[in-house]
Amino acid sequence: MTVYGSFPGSRPRRLRTTPTMRRMVAETRLDAADLILPAFVREGVDAPVPIAAMPGVVQHTLDTVRKAAAEAAEAGVSGIMLFGVPEDGKKDAVGTAGTDPDGILQQAIRAVRSETGDDLLVMSDLCLDEYTDHGHCGVLTDDGRVDNDATLERYAEMARVQAEAGVHVVGPSGMMDGQIGVVRGALDAIGAQDVAILAYTAKYSSAFYGPFREAVGSSLRGDRKTYQQDPANVRESLRELALDLAEGADMVMVKPALPYLDVLARVAEASDVPVCAYQISGEYAMVEAAAEKGWIDRDAAILETLTGIRRAGAGMILTYWATEVARRLRG
Ligand code: PBG
Repeated sequence: MTVYGSFPGSRPRRLRTTPTMRRMVAETRLDAADLILPAFVREGVDAPVPIAAMPGVVQHTLDTVRKAAAEAAEAGVSGIMLFGVPEDGKKDAVGTAGTDPDGILQQAIRAVRSETGDDLLVMSDLCLDEYTDHGHCGVLTDDGRVDNDATLERYAEMARVQAEAGVHVVGPSGMMDGQIGVVRGALDAIGAQDVAILAYTAKYSSAFYGPFREAVGSSLRGDRKTYQQDPANVRESLRELALDLAEGADMVMVKPALPYLDVLARVAEASDVPVCAYQISGEYAMVEAAAEKGWIDRDAAILETLTGIRRAGAGMILTYWATEVARRLRG
């Protein structure tokens, strides 16, 4: 029988004495390869446009996103998740610009692929909200509800044009039932078996998406509570996980990250595919805003949040700080 010691025999502080000791016994390590950079690409601008609620993040032009991708790859970041921001006049009820082979996201995928080849995984948001004039993630019924099954047909079309543009990984983020199976089927039907699916599996209806809506110029009518999950629940994340795995998800995601670390831990335990977390726009904005006021140590806070997300069970993390942190970790 093991007899556990007590003070003064047992002194946990011994393992905290020096940086080298602490490094050796660390249970969680961050590496640049764990990181994925989300990036916005805006149509019809010739210079990057700053996003007020996300200091340091911009809406890229096709030229500057190439550069950002090259820098991310150089820093050891594994992937870039691209979001398209179409010209205002191009938004309509069904999100036509999202399935236009020459739409801004498809152009961005091609531009980044030609810049970084296979050195950086090119990932794409597969969702309609950036392209609809009502701001919802799907198409609407006559009485204004989000029509699940009609939306799936739009997602299948998006999957095809994104694959044809050369994406490595698609990220269906609209929380429609059946979306993973439909996207897999659409990809396989055009011979895109090697395009992987990173499923937004547990995606909560969150107030922390606020800055993102500015980033993609989306003005949402109503809310997303009929398709995104209720922050009160964890069980339905496990149900969503089982469905996404059955439908062919290659990787699964929990989003947001920090307010949902318990969900992340449960999903990570139950998943037999890699698990990712998305540290979203509002999480970024909180740290940057507090740091700007001098209320927290920015660099330490950033690493602490990422370490917490890794510790809770995420293998990969989408974060707007990806390139900066990768440089710090490798430098
Ligand atoms: C949907 C999508 C959203 C985000 C990523 N994909 C917004 C939403 O669901 O309302 C949010 C990302 C962030 O806040 O950083 N296309």
